[in-house]
Amino acid sequence: MSNLDSESDSLNIREVAPTAQLIGSIDIPGDKSISHRALMFNSFAEGVAQIDGLLESDDVHSTMDCLRALDAQISASGRDSFTVNGRGTKGLGQSESTLDCGNSGTTARLLTGIVSGLGIPSVISGDESLSTRPMGRIIQPLNQMGVRISGRSSDTLLPLEISGSPTIQNGLVIETGVASAQVKSAILLCAVVAGVSVTVIEPKPSRDHSERLLSAMGASLEYFEDDRGHGVRLLKRIGELRAVDVTVPGDISTAAPWITAGVLHDAAEITLNGVGVNPSRTGIIDILKLMGGNIELKSERAVGGEPVADLVARSGKLHGAVIGGDLIPRAIDEIPLLALAATQAEGETVIHDASELRAKESDRIDCTVEILAAFGADIEGTADGFVIRGPTKLRAATVDSYGDHRLAMLGAVAGLLASGVSRINGASAVTISYPEFWDRLASLSTTA
Ligand code: S3P
Repeated sequence: MSNLDSESDSLNIREVAPTAQLIGSIDIPGDKSISHRALMFNSFAEGVAQIDGLLESDDVHSTMDCLRALDAQISASGRDSFTVNGRGTKGLGQSESTLDCGNSGTTARLLTGIVSGLGIPSVISGDESLSTRPMGRIIQPLNQMGVRISGRSSDTLLPLEISGSPTIQNGLVIETGVASAQVKSAILLCAVVAGVSVTVIEPKPSRDHSERLLSAMGASLEYFEDDRGHGVRLLKRIGELRAVDVTVPGDISTAAPWITAGVLHDAAEITLNGVGVNPSRTGIIDILKLMGGNIELKSERAVGGEPVADLVARSGKLHGAVIGGDLIPRAIDEIPLLALAATQAEGETVIHDASELRAKESDRIDCTVEILAAFGADIEGTADGFVIRGPTKLRAATVDSYGDHRLAMLGAVAGLLASGVSRINGASAVTISYPEFWDRLASLSTTA
């Protein structure tokens, strides 16, 4: 084994010990969903955009690499700052190679919408995990819109192949059948770049970052609710979209491990600075508060068309709850951490309506059960969630991330609460969304 191999092996296994106190303050890096969108949307707009606070993680780099392969002009202009010279809807071109989206579902689905609407022949691929994730949910509506697109395994999986010269239909109404911002955005983007109108209806509201940014760039959108669900109508575009500067707020999903640790640890006060609190993302705050969690929002303000606050998470006593319905899409990436919170709550917690967790970077129902059961939790997986009984005193465990960034962080927070030293295998998965996670954990633990 070379030195390099042993170094990368040691980075891939992390030990976590419990600490007497968790006191400190953390600046939260840029929101992943907004970072992808700021790069993508400005690339097909007209004008120059300055993006500050961009998240520099593996997923966002996958987006940047794919956009550059399509002739987008993106250049670094400082720490976390990038300039995008918008090419307009006519300026992007065919990539010479496959567009490799790595581990990033947002890159794969949104980019497919864009190249489909622009009529740029493309092949879209991803890593092993992304290659198992459902793509029929975008292939079907894009086909319906007039895109010639196919995928492996009877049009359900990556790689996808998109042919050129589509005739994108105007005025379609598409019911997605799933609350997914990635699906909704793929459809809206295909329509907006093609210059047609479309209506998307989803069963429950998903995050609305695409709608906010498209509106800021000059697109006209209307929202409605009816017996079919939550709808957004994109009106026919008049002229090109305008590039807009974006200051990316901190990612609440990145703040989530610290919020959870702060609420659950019995001697904690953690301040998280500059967290995006868009209501379509704040399910974790609402659910933890519903369970009795002590979370304070301070200095609420607006940054780049998105609400932002500083959050303070303090020790408290939790009780069980029944969690489902509209709360689920608002907390979708935080549900494994909420399952951990439930192991420390008095009584039973039932999480339901969350079958989407099985379609993420891993099967987050089965893998969360494996991880938390290893720590001694009383948890059962169901078809669409969990049943958890608490409180349980967690004991140290050796667990795997299953290559899933959110689960590496779940294991770390559980390790902070458990007695003894825990080991997280596959720890480097955090680079997908939060490359500094292990350093921040170390600094928070030593301030104790
Ligand atoms: C995302 C939407 C969510 C979320 C993912 C990022 C986005 O996925 O889980 O991490 O940026 O649009 P779905 O829209 O598929 O639920």
